[in-house]
Amino acid sequence: MKLDLNGRRLQVDADPGMPLLWLLRDVLNLTGTKYGCGVAACGACTVRVDGQAVRSCITPVSSVVGKRLQTIEALGTPGKPHALQLAWIAEQVPQCGYCQSGMLMAAAALLGKTPQPTDADIDAAMTNICRCGTYQRIRLAIRRAAGMAPNGVARKAKK
Ligand code: FES
Ligand code: FES
Repeated sequence: MKLDLNGRRLQVDADPGMPLLWLLRDVLNLTGTKYGCGVAACGACTVRVDGQAVRSCITPVSSVVGKRLQTIEALGTPGKPHALQLAWIAEQVPQCGYCQSGMLMAAAALLGKTPQPTDADIDAAMTNICRCGTYQRIRLAIRRAAGMAPNGVARKAKK
């Protein structure tokens, strides 16, 4: 199968029914995407497929052929971090860190679709589970990355 992964085209030899998470972690050694529940409940395994947040633990590899795949490894680089990564650092979001790559990919999908999300948009998009309870900091970081004030009000454009 040919995949379009993190801006690169690659040929993979895998069972078409293999969950994408297994392919990423065990075959391609992209271990930034995490395994949590394996049943689409926690979001630790979230990646983007054609920009949308997708839970890779229940996504067969065959279903992503011909689509653009992005994992946490390609969200930003140390020299050029994504706005969300900068905001995550500024708001000191991560605690144990286990859920955070999935959170970031879900947030990236949200901002890709809705650049200035309301609280309702954030609640609807961020259904991932964090056992460390970082939800409020995640909300602040998403607003920061979106250029919004901490209370969710859009900042006025500078003249
Ligand atoms: S590991 Fe995929 S949603 Fe939990
Ligand atoms: S930071 Fe520990 S589970 Fe979210």
